Amino acid sequence: MEGRPLDAAIGSAQNVLRFPEGFRWGCATAAHQVEGGNTNNDWYAWEQAEGHIHGGQKSDRACDWWRDAEADLRLAAQMGQNAHRLSVEWSRIEPREGLWDDAAIDRYRAILRFMRDNGIEPMVTLHHFTTPLWLVERGGWENPATISLFERFAGKVARALGEYCDLWITLNEPLNYALLGWLSGAPRDRMHAQNSFPPGKHDLFLMLKVVENLFRGHGAAYHALHREQPHAQVGVGNNMPFVAPLNDKSLLDRLAAVQPARLLTWSGIEASVRGRIPRLIGWRHVKELENTSDFIGVQYYQRVTIAFDAASIGTLFSRQVVSPGAELSDLNFSEVYPQGLYHLLRRTARYGKPIYITENGIPDADDDRRPAFLIAHLWQIWKALRDGVPVKGYFHWTLTDNFEWAEGWNLRFGLIKLDPHTQAREMRRSAALYGEMCKSNALSADTVQLYAPELTSEVFAPSQGVA
Ligand code: BGC
Repeated sequence: MEGRPLDAAIGSAQNVLRFPEGFRWGCATAAHQVEGGNTNNDWYAWEQAEGHIHGGQKSDRACDWWRDAEADLRLAAQMGQNAHRLSVEWSRIEPREGLWDDAAIDRYRAILRFMRDNGIEPMVTLHHFTTPLWLVERGGWENPATISLFERFAGKVARALGEYCDLWITLNEPLNYALLGWLSGAPRDRMHAQNSFPPGKHDLFLMLKVVENLFRGHGAAYHALHREQPHAQVGVGNNMPFVAPLNDKSLLDRLAAVQPARLLTWSGIEASVRGRIPRLIGWRHVKELENTSDFIGVQYYQRVTIAFDAASIGTLFSRQVVSPGAELSDLNFSEVYPQGLYHLLRRTARYGKPIYITENGIPDADDDRRPAFLIAHLWQIWKALRDGVPVKGYFHWTLTDNFEWAEGWNLRFGLIKLDPHTQAREMRRSAALYGEMCKSNALSADTVQLYAPELTSEVFAPSQGVA
C-alpha cells in the first residue's frame, strides 16, 4: 500500500526539487571500518591471516574514530547533515561473555551526545558484520544460542544509549553477511576465495541455518529494544540490489532471476515484516518475527544482472553477468543503475512502512563519477516521494574513506578523502555538492548544472511537472 502522493508536501517549482520537511540527510558508517584498534572480533583475526584482505592490508587505526570520531562528525554537521548512522562494536561493549565494559559504553555515550549537541540525529546499528571472538568460539551465528545473547546485548545497548537514540538497526545486510561468510569461502579444491568474510566457509545449508539464526536474532532484538524503549523505531538494513534478467525477452533469463531477487533483495523485508524466513525453496513462517520492522532500511548500490546458465546447478541455474554497456564503478565493484532505486522503492512501499535509504554510494577514488551518482540517485528518490513513497531520509555511504572489508583500502567510498597512514583528510567535490543538498533540503537546477550538467535537461524536463 502506498501513501498519498506528496505533491503538496514536496515542491517542484522554480527549478528546484524540494524534499519533505524533516527529511534526514546523513552518512552511514560501521564501527570496524572507522574506529580503529578493534582487536577483539572475528574481523581482526581474519585480517591477520594471509590471503584474506587485498594486498594484506589491515584496518589498523581505520579513521581513528575511537579516539576522535568528533572530528569527522563536526565536518558532517558543517555540511548540514542532520543525521548519521553508525554501529556499536559488540566486542567492545561485551569483551567477554556477560562482562560489560563501562568505559566503552561511556565512549559511545559521548559520541552520541556530541552528535545531538551538533544537530545530528543518531541511527545506531547493533551488528554490522563483526562478532566478538568469545562468541565465535561458541559457534557464533551458527549456534542458535547466539539469538538470546544478541537479545541481551540489544537490551543492554538500549538502556545505555537510549537517552540519545531511538532509531535502531538490528542487523546490517543479514543475507549478504551470511552469503559472504558461509558461501563465498573457498570450496575444498581451492586455496583462497576472493571477497569472502569470516569464517570463510562454503556450505549452502549452513548458510541457510545462519540466515535463520540471524533473523530470529533480529526478532529477539526488536522485542528487547521495544521493552526498554517503547517508542523505539527499529528496522533491518537490507541489502537490496536491483536484480534484472540479462535479456528481458528470454523466459529462461527471467526465471533464473527469480530466486536471486527473492533471496538477495526481498528476504530481509519478508522476514521482518511478514515473518517468512527464506529456505532454499519457499519460506519458513515464524510468528514472533511478524511485524518486527517499524521502518524498512534500503541499502542500494547496484543492478545485478542475471543470465540463465545450465551449468550453474549450485546457484539454481543463474549466473551473474555484466549488462552490456553498463556503467561500472571502480574495480568493477558495481553496475551503476539509479533507475533501479525508484523501482525498488515503489515496490518496497507496498509493505506499508516508512523507508530510510540506510546506504547508497559508489567507490570512486577520483570523485569524477560520484557527483552524478549522487544527483541521479537523489532524483530517483525525489520521484518516489512525488509518487507517494514514504522515504524519511537518506544516508550516504560514506562520510570518510574507510576500511572496505576484503578490499582493504582499495575502494574509496568517502565524500572526504582519507590517507589512512597520515590520517589527513581532504573534502572531495562531492562533499560540497552533498552539503548544498543537505542545507537546502533540495536539489536545484543550478546545483545539477554545476556538478553534473549532462543531467540537467533530464532531471528538469518539463514532462516531470518541474517548472
Ligand atoms: C556494507 C558496508 C560496505 C559497503 C560497500 C555495504 O554492503 O554495509 O559495510 O562498506 O556495502 O561495500
